[in-house]
Amino acid sequence: MSQTPSIIPIPVSCRLTGGAPFALTGQTVVATGGEAALRGVAAQLAKLLAVTVAETAPAGGSVIALGIDPALTPKLGGEGYTLSVTAKGVTIRGGGAAGVFYGMQSLRQLLPPDIERFGWRAGGGATTVAAVEIEDRPRFGWRGSLLDVSRHFSPVAEVKKYLDTLALHKLNVFQWHLVDDQGWRIEIKKYPKLTSVGAWRAATPKVDNEPVSDGIPHGGFYTQDEIRDVVAYAAERFITVVPEIEVPGHSSAALAAYPHLGNTDAPGYAPVVQPRWTIFPETYAPKPETLEFLDNVFTEVLALFPSKFIHVGGDEAMKEQWEASPTARAFMAANGLKNGHELQSWFIRRTENFLAKHGRRLIGWDEIQEGGLAPGAAMMAWRDVKWAIEAARLGHDVVMAPTSHTYFDYTEGTAEEEGGQIGAHTTLEKVYSFDPLTGVEPAYHARVLGAQGQLWRERMPSLSVVERRAYPRLSALAEVVWSPVARKDFADFRTRLNLLLARFDRLGVNYRRPRDSAALAPNPMAHQA
Ligand code: ACM
Repeated sequence: MSQTPSIIPIPVSCRLTGGAPFALTGQTVVATGGEAALRGVAAQLAKLLAVTVAETAPAGGSVIALGIDPALTPKLGGEGYTLSVTAKGVTIRGGGAAGVFYGMQSLRQLLPPDIERFGWRAGGGATTVAAVEIEDRPRFGWRGSLLDVSRHFSPVAEVKKYLDTLALHKLNVFQWHLVDDQGWRIEIKKYPKLTSVGAWRAATPKVDNEPVSDGIPHGGFYTQDEIRDVVAYAAERFITVVPEIEVPGHSSAALAAYPHLGNTDAPGYAPVVQPRWTIFPETYAPKPETLEFLDNVFTEVLALFPSKFIHVGGDEAMKEQWEASPTARAFMAANGLKNGHELQSWFIRRTENFLAKHGRRLIGWDEIQEGGLAPGAAMMAWRDVKWAIEAARLGHDVVMAPTSHTYFDYTEGTAEEEGGQIGAHTTLEKVYSFDPLTGVEPAYHARVLGAQGQLWRERMPSLSVVERRAYPRLSALAEVVWSPVARKDFADFRTRLNLLLARFDRLGVNYRRPRDSAALAPNPMAHQA
């Protein structure tokens, strides 16, 4: 009977050789082979294990050797790796540094959870790693997680902790939802009121009684230095930060700061940083000063985020104010735009041009398709994967982020179990069952960049609640986007999960304990497969 080590996401191939294990001690050295690109990975691994780094391995010593081997890339891609553990030593090789980093995450999961707190001492003097041969590569290149910091703010330390947990799962895209009706969270030097005014709301609906306001001001924002710090921290963990700056809707906070940029001639126009959860009629107005504002904001955003993709939202833009504004109506008539949907697409196309001129690519929610999709735009499907299936057919890159499987603000239990919150009942098993390629014809599979889990934070005031909603469902999604379909097996995942949950305990990462009987099983280092 073969055994499978408890690694999540499960590797492409993983074989316990039955050989003698590797002994991790205080004398173990992490060796980079002099490879400068691996210094950061080596430092992180050495810190985790509480051992030292060396350029060259001491002969006959206890060594974890890291190496880059471009010859692996044709077979394993830019993010693949091999991990070999024998009594003599550990070797992790990747076609690039990202692969070595992912090999390190697998090695971490071969070690007892106490490694997270005690390093090599975790085993009480004898910390061993089972002899194993692993070859691995991700199924998808976009393995994403969205965190909404507008509805509730998280300071930098919390964002970093969140990124640490993504890295453990080999997730590699962090979509940072920085802007919404309820708060603007990124410093823009040219427009200081975006944060002095737009980052603060007067009150928040009570979590358990939403018609009632808590009456407590809420806010916060990231300075540009803090943004750079987070982007660098993510990069060290091979995570790309994709900023989301909403255009043309979800713009109440920006318009509260600079009201003249909105549809000032629409009846009842009075933008505020919204203290309630719903969608609001405010949209940017199609006029020169607003377009200049957007260009200036994106110019600063591009200087902060090296990501090829920039997310421009584009969802849930209400068309009422445009229809009611003589200025917007005149603009639509002059530009041959039949309705608000086409004006919405005009905004997106214009932003796409701006980004393309600066060597970047636009991605937006599926509504950006409704009035015609800009030629180079990528699309993230949230309402239904059918939008992405159609966009892929039309030649667009897509990311699957449907409410049906990847909205982790939807509760995992029934409404009754969850105290009456959104009772969408998106169970762990349902998330695990998701396949981003379902319904996509093989000819268009390459258009599916991957999938992403969403954490909208209307009802998640603290990081602890965020983690409880995220985990372990995001662990299941990590396996969806990393592992081959043939390796997926929910019962097996569920067993492997016990060890990951024990690791969360050591890391102080909150999670929702599964309600099934397997949760009561002991945490074996390796289980019978
Ligand atoms: C969304 O949930 N409005 C993308």
